[in-house]
Amino acid sequence: MSTRHFLTLLDLSATELEQIIQRAIELKAMHKAGEIFEPLKNRVLGMVFEKSSTRTRVSFETAMAHFGGQAIFLSPRDTQLGRGEAIEDSARVLSSMLDVIMIRTFEHEKIEQFAQHSTVPVINALTDLYHPCQLLADVQTYVEKRGSIQGKTVAWIGDGNNMCHSYINAARQFDFRLKIACPEGYDPQPAVLNNASDRVEIFRSPQQAAQQADLIVTDVWTSMGQEEEQARREAAFNGFIVTTEMMDLANDDALFMHCLPAHRGEEVSADVIDGPRSAVWDEAENRLHAQKALLEFLLT
Ligand code: CP
Ligand code: NVA
Repeated sequence: MSTRHFLTLLDLSATELEQIIQRAIELKAMHKAGEIFEPLKNRVLGMVFEKSSTRTRVSFETAMAHFGGQAIFLSPRDTQLGRGEAIEDSARVLSSMLDVIMIRTFEHEKIEQFAQHSTVPVINALTDLYHPCQLLADVQTYVEKRGSIQGKTVAWIGDGNNMCHSYINAARQFDFRLKIACPEGYDPQPAVLNNASDRVEIFRSPQQAAQQADLIVTDVWTSMGQEEEQARREAAFNGFIVTTEMMDLANDDALFMHCLPAHRGEEVSADVIDGPRSAVWDEAENRLHAQKALLEFLLT
C-alpha cells in the first residue's frame, strides 16, 4: 500500500477520521488509567519546526514517549534545511532513517513537495494554509462534552486563516454547518471554500454568525509570519472579539474553543476563555490523545 500522509483532513476518509476520534477517546482513558501501551517501540518521529510551538511540539514528543518510541526535534537553525538543502533531498534522506515526519512550516506547497519525496508518512503540524491536527483535538473535545458534532452548527469568528481552512474541511468531513464571520478582505481562500458551499456560509456580522451556534471558535488575528501586518489587522478585526454577550446569542449549551495561544481582550474576552463555556484546556490536552491516535493509524 502506498504511504499515507496527513497534510489536510481530506487525506483521510470521513470514516477513518471518525475512527481516529473514537480511538483518541479510548487512548485518553487508557492513559488516565495508567495503562502502559507501547505500539511504537523503536519507532522514531522527526519533528521539523520552522515556526514556534508549545502544544504541538510537546504533544508529539510526549505521544512518542508514551508509545515507547522517540522523537527528534529538528530546527532550521541547526540543520541543513535552514541552509537551503533541497526539500526533495531532505525528504529522501530523513525518510530513509525516520518512521514518520511531522512538519510545521510556512508555504503549504513545501510540505506537499516534501511528502511527494518521502517514503514514510508526513504529518502537517501547521502550514500557512491548514492546521489539521488541531481539528482532531477540537472534534474530540466536542464529542467528549456534547456527543457527535454531525448536524451541529459551528461559528468561526475572525480571520479566514489556516485554522478556519481546516474548519471548512472539517465541516465537510464531520458533516456540520459552519458559519464564518470575518471582516472583508480576510475571507478564507476561494479554493478551500469551493467544495464546501453546501455546508459553509460567510457573514460580515459576528453576532449573526454566533446565533444558533453549538460551538463558537476563534483564533489570533495575526498568525505566525504576519507580524508586520499587526496594526492593520487590529483595526480590521475591531468588533470581532468573542464576548459573553456574543456567547449568549448562541445555543444554551454552546462551547467556546481556541487553538491557543490566545490574546485576552483581543479576539476573546477573559471572562469567556476563563469561563464555564470554555473548553480550551481540554482542547489543548486532547492534542496529545488525538495525535497518538493519528500516529497509531499511520504507523500500525
Ligand atoms: N495550537 C497550537 O498549535 O499551539 P502551538 O503553536 O503552541 O503548537
Ligand atoms: N493561526 C495561528 C494558529 C497557531 C496555532 C497561526 O498560524 O499562528
